[in-house]
Amino acid sequence: MSIAINWTADFETGIDIIDEQHKRIFEYLHEIDHAIAQRSHELIEHVVKALIDYAISHNTFEESLMEKAGYPMLDAHHQVHEKFKERANAYAQRLRNGEDSLRVAREVRSDIGLWLTNHIKRDDQHYVKYVKKSIDRSFVGRMLGKFFG
Ligand SMILES: [Fe+2]
Repeated sequence: MSIAINWTADFETGIDIIDEQHKRIFEYLHEIDHAIAQRSHELIEHVVKALIDYAISHNTFEESLMEKAGYPMLDAHHQVHEKFKERANAYAQRLRNGEDSLRVAREVRSDIGLWLTNHIKRDDQHYVKYVKKSIDRSFVGRMLGKFFG
């Protein structure tokens, strides 16, 4: 039995677009629980693959925000995302190899679930103040352009 994964304020970054994407990741983890409970191999494969694809493109999106913000630890964060990609893709590969999907899904739910929630709670918090500042700057820039441009 995996630990329950529920969205709480601890996971919030305060950056709306990031919080929405992180919440979607939580939903995918719930969908995996549901697929496991249904014992539907088709559903499991579909949802596990969807979670992995979504999380990888979400990470790339985060990196684009960090880059825009001039975040000084971008390289380190990128490396962490690369490790995640390797780990997640290994699960996708195991499904493609025809390994028992229930077993793979349970591992994804606990291992990838734990990785992602820890990452969101800890690592992602480090870029928040930089990215927030850069979003505010571009907002102010847009507003100034609108009124005075
Ligand atoms: Fe991240």
